[in-house]
Amino acid sequence: MSEEPRIHTPGALAGEDELDLSLRPRRLAEFVGQDSLREQLSVSLEAATARGEPLDHVLLAGPPGLGKTSLAQIVAAELEAPFVQTAGPALERKGDIAALLTALEPGAVFFVDEIHRLNRALEETFYPAMEDRRLPITIGQGAGARVVTLELPPFTLIGATTRAGLLSTPLRDRFGIQHRLEPYAPDDLATIVRRSAEILDVRLEEDGAHAIAERSRGTPRVANRLLRRVRDWAEVRGSGVVTAQAADSALALLEVDELGLDRLDRDILSALCRRFSGGPVGLTTLAVAVGEEADTIEDVYEPYLLQQGLLRRTPRGRAATALAYEHLGLQAPEPAGLW
Ligand SMILES: Nc1ncnc2c1ncn2[C@@H]1O[C@H](COP(=O)(O)OP(=O)(O)OP(=O)(O)O)[C@@H](O)[C@H]1O
Ligand SMILES: [Mg+2]
Repeated sequence: MSEEPRIHTPGALAGEDELDLSLRPRRLAEFVGQDSLREQLSVSLEAATARGEPLDHVLLAGPPGLGKTSLAQIVAAELEAPFVQTAGPALERKGDIAALLTALEPGAVFFVDEIHRLNRALEETFYPAMEDRRLPITIGQGAGARVVTLELPPFTLIGATTRAGLLSTPLRDRFGIQHRLEPYAPDDLATIVRRSAEILDVRLEEDGAHAIAERSRGTPRVANRLLRRVRDWAEVRGSGVVTAQAADSALALLEVDELGLDRLDRDILSALCRRFSGGPVGLTTLAVAVGEEADTIEDVYEPYLLQQGLLRRTPRGRAATALAYEHLGLQAPEPAGLW
C-alpha cells in the first residue's frame, strides 16, 4: 500500500484519479468523523464569516489519506473563496511565492501541501506575509539593490503536513488554527465506505462495509481503495454485491490481513522480530532490510503499527512488541535478565 509521494503543482492535481475526486467530501457536513476538529473549524468559519474577515491561517497535520487536502478545499468552499494550491517542494524561489501571493483574489484560500518540505530560506518569506500581509522583496543587485514591500490581499494560508515535527517553530506559531487528524474509528470508516458505495453505485451490504472498515488502517483513502478492489472481486468472482465474505476473499487475495496490515507492514514486523531480534534498530537499517524508503515507513506505515501497539519507538530505534510476535505467530523472546 505504498503511497506515491504526490507533489501538487499549481493548477494541477497530479496523480489524483477522477474517482478519488468524485469521492472527496465537498462540504463540512459531508466530512465524516473527526468530530471535534469539525466542530472547531465550523466555529472558526462562522466567526470569520460573521466578522467579514479572512479565516486565521490553518495548519493540518496527520498521516496520509486522512483528509487534509479535502478539508482545505472544504474550507474554501464554505467561505465561498477561491482555492489556490501548491506544495512545499514546488516552491523553489522567493519569486515563486511572490507571484502566487500577489495574484491571489481577496479572501482566497492558499493551500501549501507538504509544507514541511518547504525550503528553510523560503520559509521566512511567509512570516511577514502571514502576519501583516506584507511581502518585502529585493529588487536589483549589489549597491543598487533596494527592498520594496508589496501589499498582499487578505488571504488564508492552509498548510498540510504529514510531519508537524519537521516544521520550524516560527512557522508553526504563525498558524492561528492548528489541528491534528487522527486515524478514524471503524464506524466512521464504515460510514465513508457506505457513502462512497452510493457515489460509485456499488451494491454493498452492512457486513461488507464493516469488513472493509475494520481493515482500512484508520484511513479513508485506504477504505475507498479497498472498496474498489472488493467490488472488482464481487463482480468477477462473487455475486456482484459487496458482502463480508466478498471482502474476506478479496482482501486475502490482496494479502491484507485481519488487522488491515499488508505485506510491507508484515515485512517490517518480521524483519524486526526475526532479523533484528526484536530491535531496537535504526529506521534506515530497517528501511534497507525491507527495501522501502525510510520516509515512507515513517509517514505511511509506522503510524498505524504504533497505534495498533505492534511497534515501539525507542531512543535507539524501532522495536517490536510482544503483540507483533503474537500477530506473526512467533514466540516472543523472554525479557532479558539483569546482569
Ligand atoms: N472525513 C472524510 N470523509 C469522507 N471521505 C474522506 C474523509 N477524509 C478523507 N476522505 C477520502 O479520502 C481521500 C483522501 O483524502 P485527502 O486527499 O484529503 O487526504 P490527505 O490527508 O490530503 O492525504 P495526503 O497526505 O496523502 O495528501 C479523499 O479523496 C476522500 O475521498
Ligand atoms: Mg493531500
